[in-house]
Amino acid sequence: MKVKFTETVLRDAGQSLIATRLPYSKFEPILETMDKIGYYSLECWGGATFDTCLRFLDEDPWQRLRDIRKHVKNTKLQMLLRGQNVLGYKHYPDDVVRKFVELSVKNGIDVIRIFDALNDLRNLEVSVTETVKHGGIAQVAISYTTSPVHTLENYVQLIKNIEEMGATSLCIKDMAGVMSPKECYDLVKAIKENSKLPLHLHTHSTTGLSFMTYLKGIEAGADCIDTAVSCMSGGTSQPATETLVYALGQMGYDTEVNYPVLKEINDFFRPIQEEYVKNGMLDPKVMMTEADALNYQIPGGMLSNLISQLKQLNAMDKFAEVLKETPKVREELGYPPLVTPTSQMVGVQAANNILAGERYKNVTKEVTAYLRGEYGTPPGKVSEELIKKVLGEEKLYTGRFADTLAPGFEKGKAEIGAKAKTDEDVLSYIIFPQVYEKFFDEREERKRKRVKYSIEQV
Ligand code: CO
Repeated sequence: MKVKFTETVLRDAGQSLIATRLPYSKFEPILETMDKIGYYSLECWGGATFDTCLRFLDEDPWQRLRDIRKHVKNTKLQMLLRGQNVLGYKHYPDDVVRKFVELSVKNGIDVIRIFDALNDLRNLEVSVTETVKHGGIAQVAISYTTSPVHTLENYVQLIKNIEEMGATSLCIKDMAGVMSPKECYDLVKAIKENSKLPLHLHTHSTTGLSFMTYLKGIEAGADCIDTAVSCMSGGTSQPATETLVYALGQMGYDTEVNYPVLKEINDFFRPIQEEYVKNGMLDPKVMMTEADALNYQIPGGMLSNLISQLKQLNAMDKFAEVLKETPKVREELGYPPLVTPTSQMVGVQAANNILAGERYKNVTKEVTAYLRGEYGTPPGKVSEELIKKVLGEEKLYTGRFADTLAPGFEKGKAEIGAKAKTDEDVLSYIIFPQVYEKFFDEREERKRKRVKYSIEQV
């Protein structure tokens, strides 16, 4: 019996614990050791890393990827892609999605894990086809959630459609850490009975279920689990790699992981973790168990966003009411899984409903677009009363939203002009226009300063 491991310390663990603020220079020295472990893959790119590199770390994300690839020659490199949203927050035209996938593979990515917040497969098709075309592994993740419309039968049908679409492997993505051991066992078993594709599990330790959930998932036949090196594990991050390698090894599973070398990796990251605790980037609170999330059914990240939003508005006294309002909004929107961007959408709307003193008096532009059908088809039925209130007699959109978008790559290239040196730069610009321009201008400014400095030195 084999169980493979995906190490998340370079992406999701860092994103969940320290808001993705780990610069490349900090982890470069450990990359070659990590390459010797025997992981199935290193999750190291995509998700929020791209945005953060440009916005806060003053790093070219593409350069980061090439640098990682230089040091990691044997282990697969993995990224997280939001389907038609690429790494941004809206839908992009197909030519932009294709180019992004092509260049991700060309710059060193092996596995592209692709998901859509609504599990609307029309938002995944282009990235899946393009990944396979360029020799990458297209791993399609279903956004896991529970609701009256998220039945085993519906999930199995979804999986069958994903397989038909040409995915290389599957993943159950439990972004909130709310999947219980029993739910995981039943779902993995049902998927395994209906699909031959390798199945990966992704969860977070937020609610404390994660180790049990993985164990039951593995017993039901899951092939690979996502874990984080122990000092960067737990809480809103993944469960610990060493712990699972130890326990599963004892139970007779072949994990293919070099256990003694794992300690070297943890010894390397420990002082970094301590540094982030000291500088306040790592709030010890996020490493604690939040079983409350099981009652609210709200992901930990969304909960902390809600709190900071209410604090800014000086409205923390409304917190309990907003918490109660959130599941109502979610139900009226047809039970979307709560993951970027739907988690923000539902949270902000719930807060608006309470703070305005009248439900749906202030409707955000995102919720309006969602109701129109621009994000795709919601899993359940959307409240007709709500549609009427917000959209009146406006006709709903039932097609694939990206079909309405004009090609964007050449247009972006023309717009940014000489400020983009490569096609990779053009994509950075298209996805984060202002952030990229600021990054570019500052980089040029620094170059000028360096030149001046060295002239003065002479
Ligand atoms: Co995650």
